[in-house]
Amino acid sequence: MKNSNRWGVALLALLWTTGCGGEDDADDAGDAGATASATYFQGAESMALGHEGNQAACATCHSIDGSLGLSGSSMQNIAYLTAYKGGDAPTLLDAVNACVTGWMGGEALTADDPAYASLRAYLESLSDAAVTEPNELAPEVLSDADAYEAAYAGGDSAAGAAKYAAACGRCHDAGLVVNQVPAYSKASLKNYTVSRIAQKVRTSGPPPSAMGDAADSTPGPMPFFEPKDLSSADLKDIIAHLKAQ
Ligand code: HEC
Ligand code: HEC
Repeated sequence: MKNSNRWGVALLALLWTTGCGGEDDADDAGDAGATASATYFQGAESMALGHEGNQAACATCHSIDGSLGLSGSSMQNIAYLTAYKGGDAPTLLDAVNACVTGWMGGEALTADDPAYASLRAYLESLSDAAVTEPNELAPEVLSDADAYEAAYAGGDSAAGAAKYAAACGRCHDAGLVVNQVPAYSKASLKNYTVSRIAQKVRTSGPPPSAMGDAADSTPGPMPFFEPKDLSSADLKDIIAHLKAQ
């Protein structure tokens, strides 16, 4: 079952690095004159950075005020870090592109693209240039399905209702299209095992089976939540809430 762990890590690495553009000296140029507005961070223009029909904007997954709880980090103090995504993305452009291509299904932006210049100016406006220490990236990859089952069975379903609404409802109550896939209905989520739900939330999906099972729909575009964004106790309660529907 070590195999499963290795696949999880490989999958996450793939998602984090998708779209990295290589040398990015140009990342320091090209934004002259861009004014800080949230145009490409939330709403229709942001969604349009992704695949046609994508309804996930940056703001779907990232807060701007330092608060945790969404799958991605807060964008407060993000612009001047010396690396991103736990070191997998060397520049801000690489990090943004990993999300634009990996989660949203769009084309990578270039440093002198007006949409990137605008996004960058906006992120800079939320950031203190003195904050440069990269954020940690610590997804919870357990050894196998049994380990997720043991860690996440037995939550409090009543306590999970509000926690579900805060962490999952924005996508699953609305059938929000991420990249090209609508989030499955809340009602359908009870059909998954405890371990499958936990793996999905923690790693963006269980690894594709070694058999190449055609019925295995993962990995999908749903983002993962690190324990700092959603505690184990909260995820346990959410899963109990989904199973009790
Ligand atoms: C579907 C959810 C989703 C969308 C949409 C999304 N991101 Fe992300 N983003 C994530 C996740 C998950 C991570 C990895 C965890 C983390 O480091 O925040 C991440 C990481 C990042 C990072 C690196 C953060 C760090 O601490 O190293 C940046 C910067 C970023 N995203 C910017 C953006 C921008 C700008 C957009 C819109 C163009 C965007 N993201 C769209 C989910 C998303
Ligand atoms: C940014 C939007 C978004 C958020 C937030 C989100 N999901 Fe999802 N989820 C999706 C999409 C899209 C799919 C279908 C595509 C896929 O499987 O990735 C999905 C699929 C799933 C599946 C099916 C897994 C499988 O193996 O096919 C489960 C279970 C699930 N989500 C649970 C959750 C739970 C629990 C939360 C909250 C902790 C959550 N999701 C938060 C978008 C989201």
